[in-house]
Amino acid sequence: MSDIELDIEAEDDATHLWDLLLLADPSQKMIEEYLEEGKLYSAMWESVIVGVFVLYPLGEDSWELKNIAVSEEWQGKGVGKALLGASITAGRDLGAKHMEVGTGNSSIGQLAFYQKAGFRMARIAKNFFTLNYDEPIYENGIQCRDMVIFTLDL
Ligand SMILES: CC(C)(COP(=O)(O)OP(=O)(O)OC[C@H]1O[C@@H](n2cnc3c(N)ncnc32)[C@H](O)[C@@H]1OP(=O)(O)O)[C@@H](O)C(=O)NCCC(=O)NCCS
Repeated sequence: MSDIELDIEAEDDATHLWDLLLLADPSQKMIEEYLEEGKLYSAMWESVIVGVFVLYPLGEDSWELKNIAVSEEWQGKGVGKALLGASITAGRDLGAKHMEVGTGNSSIGQLAFYQKAGFRMARIAKNFFTLNYDEPIYENGIQCRDMVIFTLDL
């Protein structure tokens, strides 16, 4: 998927990773909830933690990528592509045959990012963000209301 080789670590404690986790999801409360059952991973490149992802069990062989983020200074260099590849490998190691990931209707870059990695649009959770987040979210001049759910068969 990418030439960048990341060192992936499973993490028990999110304390040093909050800045990264909050890049992908503005709600600390929602993150804390999915970290209870989710598995958190950090990624190092050239001795620096450059990204995180969280895998959350949906069923026996189905996992959701709940959070994926690359530090702002490392974005746009192929790290996200390598991290998405690492999340798929970690999912396979957990027995996943199917992965899901959701992003907002306003997250134009992320809609491109997942499709370039082979994810397909599967469904839309209407009003997911308006119902689950206290503050309105705007990106690219668009209110983030609905969640677009992508799936990938592994
Ligand atoms: C989304 C994110 C993980 C992408 O990481 P990245 O390191 O910038 O992405 P890469 O440089 O590896 O790009 C991978 C591919 O996605 C494409 N892509 C990434 N961001 C894009 C954008 N804003 N618009 C269009 N395409 C984009 C790249 O062009 C590249 O395509 P290629 O495979 O043809 O070369 C990163 O921007 C990020 O952490 N954003 C903040 C957190 C976030 O929004 N997480 C996702 C929540 S749903």
